[in-house]
Amino acid sequence: MAIVRESPTISILTKLDPKAWPPSSTTVESLFCADDGLPSTTEPPAVLGNELDEELIQACEGLQEKECLLPSGILRSGNAERTRKHRIQQVAMLLRVRERVASLHGRYIVVDVGGSGGELLWVYGQVVGFPAAMVVVDPEEPPLDRRIDTYFSQDSEACQRTRFVRLSKPIGDVTEKDLPCADLPLVMLGKHLCGSATDSLLLTVAGAPFGSRVVGLFVSQCCYMKIDPTTYVGRPYFQRIGITEEEFVFLCHKALWHDPQHSTVKYYCTLSRVGAIFEQALVEGRRRYFMEAWGCGKGEVSVVAFTTSSVTPRNLMIEAWRGQ
Ligand SMILES: C[S@@+](CC[C@H](N)C(=O)[O-])C[C@H]1O[C@@H](n2cnc3c(N)ncnc32)[C@H](O)[C@@H]1O
Repeated sequence: MAIVRESPTISILTKLDPKAWPPSSTTVESLFCADDGLPSTTEPPAVLGNELDEELIQACEGLQEKECLLPSGILRSGNAERTRKHRIQQVAMLLRVRERVASLHGRYIVVDVGGSGGELLWVYGQVVGFPAAMVVVDPEEPPLDRRIDTYFSQDSEACQRTRFVRLSKPIGDVTEKDLPCADLPLVMLGKHLCGSATDSLLLTVAGAPFGSRVVGLFVSQCCYMKIDPTTYVGRPYFQRIGITEEEFVFLCHKALWHDPQHSTVKYYCTLSRVGAIFEQALVEGRRRYFMEAWGCGKGEVSVVAFTTSSVTPRNLMIEAWRGQ
């Protein structure tokens, strides 16, 4: 007779009130207590205050004026509050990137993985400045009138300084010959890259020949429930602490991004404390993988909350830098 092993994590989690688990003393550190010699730099749970700093507010206000000069509808439209929050997220992320790339003096290529219409790259040009080339990598192509591509052939400042390339393929299929300016360093971006696409990005940067050109990587993640446990790069860390594949999939679903009955923030705050802590653990597993695979020091790959959780609860970003 087959023995069915009871899954300890699932039985514990389904019996407990999710609002009461994990206890407030549980941290990602205590989840990953295995002595693997890789101390975490993960920040405490990403429940920050509401305040936005002055620099961020000013940068967002400056953008509004420039946006008016673009063909209408080319950037995200619809609900004004959603658009505003989206813009704050983009600018908050890019202000961090700006500090790092300053030393490259524009002589680099920025690659936005999962860049969709190219909106983040337009904001990048305004907030950080235009580098030698900008590349969008996304297997899905939005309609022409929702893509920033045409802007690069019309706007004199951007097209004089910057070559624009769209690669309509997944990041795992990108090769060295797809990328322009072979002599220049690469800075990789991924904003709210969903499911396993982040794993694919990290694997590609760590393994592909063009990975040696990468000096910086900034990736925030979402849709944890779509993670494929067989390709998730941090899986060994969860195996080491005894989490089975079944438990892993269950916990990924606890880190749900969206429920049609609730606003994202409300859902996250009221229903998914388990998801919140597991989300941090998932990001931490990826950080640890990348730190080892990219072969860099522990200070060079960190997890940061790039904006407040009131702007987006998906505010954790892996930040890696080995430029000057
Ligand atoms: C949640 S959307 C985020 C879009 C945009 N970055 C933003 O913040 O609004 C994720 C994007 O990643 C793209 N994507 C999914 N898998 C990918 C892969 N393997 N390589 C590149 N892009 C991918 C999707 O087509 C989608 O446009």
